[in-house]
Amino acid sequence: MNDLAPARQAVALTGAGISIDSGIPPFRGKGGLWERFDPMEIAHIDSFMRNPAMVWKVLVKDLKDIIDRARPNDGHKGLARLEQLGILKSVITQNIDGLHQMAGNTDVIEFHGTFAWQRCIQCERRIETSWVDASELPPRCTCGGILRPDAVFFGEMIPPAALWRSQEMASHCDVMLVVGTSAVVQPAASMPIIARQSGAVVIEINPEPTPLTGVISSYLIRGKAGDVMNRIVSALEIKR
Ligand code: OAD
Repeated sequence: MNDLAPARQAVALTGAGISIDSGIPPFRGKGGLWERFDPMEIAHIDSFMRNPAMVWKVLVKDLKDIIDRARPNDGHKGLARLEQLGILKSVITQNIDGLHQMAGNTDVIEFHGTFAWQRCIQCERRIETSWVDASELPPRCTCGGILRPDAVFFGEMIPPAALWRSQEMASHCDVMLVVGTSAVVQPAASMPIIARQSGAVVIEINPEPTPLTGVISSYLIRGKAGDVMNRIVSALEIKR
């Protein structure tokens, strides 16, 4: 808490772990999506282009139902509270579930895009996912083109604006909170490295250590995002 209390430019980098308590499965580890599916077969852009109906059926439709039901948990709410307290500036998230915005954070960089919107692969028109009729797969745009999530598949580039802004935020923050990410997917995993090299204190919140632990991060607060954020917010509110 001693590092966060005086911070005014803190940035959070979040991953799937923060949304587990909202009912969204992570990618790696026990119960992770990549335990059930080969990401290269199901989440690679080449697979989608080869067989969009299959990718919609086994991945996208399920995710749509899960994300539709999900609500922010104490981890998301805690980060929103840190923003209200004037400590946290921005959230860089690898998640596509929109839960940080729903919790109240106002500057959220969606590093891997969003699931809230679908995009036509033909005319590029965007349509809100909640409006998509998925009774026939793959769903189509009014122009006849196939709809795809406005999220990053394996084999695709990070949206340039998201990458640029994240690098900018990482190099100017005073503290970086790294919450619920295994920190193995690049280039997201290099944001804490940029932060550390630029002089920020890097704090991890995760039940497990990651490749950053003890190398890039100053320390790891072990535990679930919701529990740890509740403790942090209570301590900071007492100090104010
Ligand atoms: P992962 O599934 O790789 O990692 C989830 C992390 O959350 C692990 O380090 C867990 O230890 C941790 N964790 C588990 N329960 C937690 C809890 N209650 N609170 C906090 N942390 C918890 O997810 P990401 O790191 O987000 O990319 O994965 C990065 C990218 O890999 C994803 O954005 C996705 C995936 O392939 C694309 O699809 C492009």
